[in-house]
Amino acid sequence: MKKALITGVNGQDGAYLSEFLIKKGYEVHGLRRRSSTFNTSRIDHLINNPTINNKSLFLYYADLTDSLSISKLFQEHNFDEVYNLAAQSHVGVSFNQPEYTCNVDGLGALRLLEIIKSSRNPKTKFYQASTSELYGGIYNEAQTEKTPFYPKSPYAVGKLMAYWITVNYRESFDMFACNGILFNHESPLRGETFVTRKITQALSKIVCGIQEELILGNLDAKRDWGHAKEYTELMWLILQHHEPIDFVAATNKQYSIREFVELCCKEIGVIIRWEGEGLNEIGVVEDYNHIVNDVSPTLKKGKILVRVSEEYFRPSEVNTLLGDASLAKELLGWEPKIGIEELACEMITSDLTDAVAKYRLQHL
Ligand code: NAP
Ligand code: GDD
Repeated sequence: MKKALITGVNGQDGAYLSEFLIKKGYEVHGLRRRSSTFNTSRIDHLINNPTINNKSLFLYYADLTDSLSISKLFQEHNFDEVYNLAAQSHVGVSFNQPEYTCNVDGLGALRLLEIIKSSRNPKTKFYQASTSELYGGIYNEAQTEKTPFYPKSPYAVGKLMAYWITVNYRESFDMFACNGILFNHESPLRGETFVTRKITQALSKIVCGIQEELILGNLDAKRDWGHAKEYTELMWLILQHHEPIDFVAATNKQYSIREFVELCCKEIGVIIRWEGEGLNEIGVVEDYNHIVNDVSPTLKKGKILVRVSEEYFRPSEVNTLLGDASLAKELLGWEPKIGIEELACEMITSDLTDAVAKYRLQHL
C-alpha cells in the first residue's frame, strides 16, 4: 500500500485528492491546522466512514510554519509521495498578510523539501502546488511551461520561491520534485471567498430571498477556469511520470467575471442586464423564469442583483490568464473535459439546494 502525505488535506484540492488516492488504494496521511471551529467539512464523509478513517486516512495537527510538527511525521512514516497543497491561497488577502503568506507559501515548500532530503526516504516524490498567478496576467497568448513569470502579488511572489526551490532541489539533489502550474480550478467545494463560489452562493441566496445583493470587484478580469476534480487527478499523474518535470493544467478557454455571472444567472433562469460603468456598474434582472419565481417571491424585474465596490479590487490586478496544457496531454494523456457551463451548473445546483433548504427552514 503506497503512503501519501497531503498538506492542506481539508482544502478544496486536498479533499478531492484524498478521495482519489484512497480509491486508488493509497494510505493517505493529511496535515491540518488546529482551528477554534470545525474545519474538516470537506472531508467529513471520509472521516465518518469507518472503513476509511484510521485504515486509509490519518490526520495530524501540523503547520507549514512549524518545521518540528512536520519533521515528526517523517520520523514516524516513510512516505512515497508528498503533495504540498497547503497555502494561504487568497491573492487579495496576501496584500494584507504578505509576510505570513510568503512564510507559508514560499518557505513552507522549502521546509518540506529539506525535511524530505534528510529523511529516511529521500526518494519520496514531491508535488508542489504552483499557480498560474506566477504569470501575472501580462501576456496576450496562452501561457505554457516556458512562459516567463511576472508575479504581481505577495501570494505569487511566495509561490515563485516555492516553484524555484522545487526546481532547485530536483536539480541539486536529484529529487523527484515537480511543479503543477495549475490555472484556476473550482467546484462546489471551492472556498466561499473566491469569486466563482461567491457568485454561485450569493445568486442562490438572492433568488431565495435570503441575501439582498452581490457585491463584486473587477468584473473585467478574465480567468481560465477548470474543475478541481480533474486537476487533482493531474497532480497524481505528474508524480507517476517516469521523470520529474513541471506541467501546466488549463482549459485554454477564458471568461470574464461578468460572463461567469451571466452564465450562473442563466443556470437559474434569470436574464441579467448590465447598466453603468466602473464602480457605478450594476447588474439588474431583465427577466426570469417562472420556476425561479416559485422559490423566490422577492425576485422582480429591475431588481439590482450585482453592484461593484472598490473593496474587492486588488492593489495590482492580474487581468488575464489563459493556459495551454498541451504538454500534459502529450506526455500524460491528461486533458480537462468539464467545460464552464457544466462547472457553473454543478456549483449553482449545490448552492441552490442549500439556499432552498435554508429558505424552507425559515418559512416553516
Ligand atoms: P484552499 O481550499 O484554500 O486550501 C488550502 C489549504 O491549506 C487548507 O487546508 C488550509 O487549511 C491549509 N493551510 C493554510 N495555511 C496553512 C498552514 N500555515 N499550515 C498548514 N496548512 C495550511 O486552496 P485550494 O484551492 O485547495 O488550493 C490548493 C493549493 O493549490 C494551494 O496551495 C493553492 O495556492 C494552489 N492553487 C490553487 C488553485 C485554484 O484555483 N484552486 C490554482 C493554482 C494553485 P485551513 O482550512 O486551516 O485554512
Ligand atoms: N475573490 C474575489 N472576490 N475576486 C473578485 C471579486 C470578489 O468579490 N470580484 C472580482 N474578482 C476578481 C479578482 O480581482 C480576480 O481578478 C478574479 O476575480 C479571480 O479572483 P479569485 O477567485 O479570488 O481567484 P484568483 O484568480 O485571484 O486566485 C485563485 O486562482 C489562482 C490560480 O490562478 C486562487 O485559487 C489562487 O490560490 C490560485 O493560485
